[in-house]
Amino acid sequence: MNESKLTMLITQESISTRVDELAATISSNYEDAGDIVIIGVLKGAFIFLADLSRRLSVPHRVEFIAVTSYGRQGASGGAVRLLMDVREDVKGKHVLIVEDIVDTGRTLDYLVDLLNTRQPASLKTCALVRKASRMEVDVQLDYLGFDIPDAWVVGYGLDYAEKHRTLPYIGVLEGDASGDASGDASG
Ligand code: IMP
Ligand code: MG
Repeated sequence: MNESKLTMLITQESISTRVDELAATISSNYEDAGDIVIIGVLKGAFIFLADLSRRLSVPHRVEFIAVTSYGRQGASGGAVRLLMDVREDVKGKHVLIVEDIVDTGRTLDYLVDLLNTRQPASLKTCALVRKASRMEVDVQLDYLGFDIPDAWVVGYGLDYAEKHRTLPYIGVLEGDASGDASGDASG
C-alpha cells in the first residue's frame, strides 16, 4: 500500500472537544453508580482511554483487554479471538468498554457477548469513531465520538501495520488498505 498520502480527517482540537463532551456525558450518566470499570481494548484504544479516563469526574478503575481479528492486516471483520483478559472480576460491576473504532462491529459484538456472560451490573460501550457504512453486526454502541466514511484511518491510537498510532490527529491513509500485507490485526 502506498502510505505516502495521509490526509487530515479529524483535527486534534475536534478530538479534544469531543472527548470532553463524551467524558461529561458519561460522568453524568454514572453519577450515582459508584466505582465503574472502564475496559480499554488494546492496542488501539490506549490513547483515547488515557484522555477520556482523565476527564471523567466519577470514580473508576481502568482495565485492559486485547483481542485479535484474523484476516489481512489493514482489514478487519474476521473471527475474533481473545489475546489478553481483564484482571478484575466484573460480576456485579458497572462496565464500560472503550474502543478506538467500530468497523464491521464484530470485535465490539464479541466483547459485549463475552463480558455479558460475566454478569456485570450494567454493560455499556463507547467508541471514538465508527464507519457506519461498514457495519455488518448491529452492535450496541452507547457513546460515539464521530461517524466517519469508509476509509482506513490512523492516528490517535489507530494504526496501519503498527505505524502512525502516535499522530495527534486522525487522518485517512490513501490506498487499498485491505489489499497487500498479510497477518492478523491486533487492535
Ligand atoms: P471490527 O471488528 O471490524 O469492528 O474492527 C475493529 C478493529 O479493526 C478495530 O478495533 C481496529 O483495531 C481495526 N480497524 C478497523 N478499521 C480500522 C481503521 O480504519 N484504522 C485502524 N484500525 C482499524
Ligand atoms: Mg481496536
